[in-house]
Amino acid sequence: MKKIKVAVLVSGGGTNLQAILDAEKDGIIANANVDLVISNKAGAYALERAKNYGVATKTIIKKNFESAEAFEDAIIDALKERNIDLIVLAGFMSILSKKFTDTFKDRIINVHPSLIPSFCGDGFYGLKVHEKALEYGVKVTGATVHFVNEITDGGTIIAQKAVEIQLGDTPEILQKRVMEEAEWILLPQAIEEVSKDLLLAK
Ligand code: GAR
Repeated sequence: MKKIKVAVLVSGGGTNLQAILDAEKDGIIANANVDLVISNKAGAYALERAKNYGVATKTIIKKNFESAEAFEDAIIDALKERNIDLIVLAGFMSILSKKFTDTFKDRIINVHPSLIPSFCGDGFYGLKVHEKALEYGVKVTGATVHFVNEITDGGTIIAQKAVEIQLGDTPEILQKRVMEEAEWILLPQAIEEVSKDLLLAK
């Protein structure tokens, strides 16, 4: 059966990558295959997770290039070299340019740890998102999976799931609940959905 070739872009611990790899093993993702993991941070634990599953990895670090464009071009080359169909940003902490997002139009998805349009855009990433949600005092937050365009967190929403804030939450506790109750479920489901659509369009 033909499958969509997926590359996952990461920067850190890679728990979302783990959820994707597990979903593939368990058949929740049946129409896609993780073919490549790219990290922009040397030694990111996500790379270990990929290796444990026998997935090819590449580390591409911005400061090793003379410009942001050259850094992104290296990522584009790595993706094209393996004929990647779908790019998944899973905790990838680098904003991609319009050139990049146009190169893979409607083929990049991202998971963000809030209910967009709340607590998103430039400067809202990782633990900061949960700090801001707690600071504001919202009672409900969640996660969003969306297509990526040139506007940070601005592409079409694919899926969202709400998560309740509880008394005594710290950013760390909230981050974990949002991951467990929303991100790790939504992201694999979205990959499967988008992959099915891409296969139909092939
Ligand atoms: C996740 O919570 C993800 O939603 C968030 O970073 C974390 C990465 O964790 N991404 C963003 O904030 C993007 N704006 P992980 O490396 O364990 O998957």
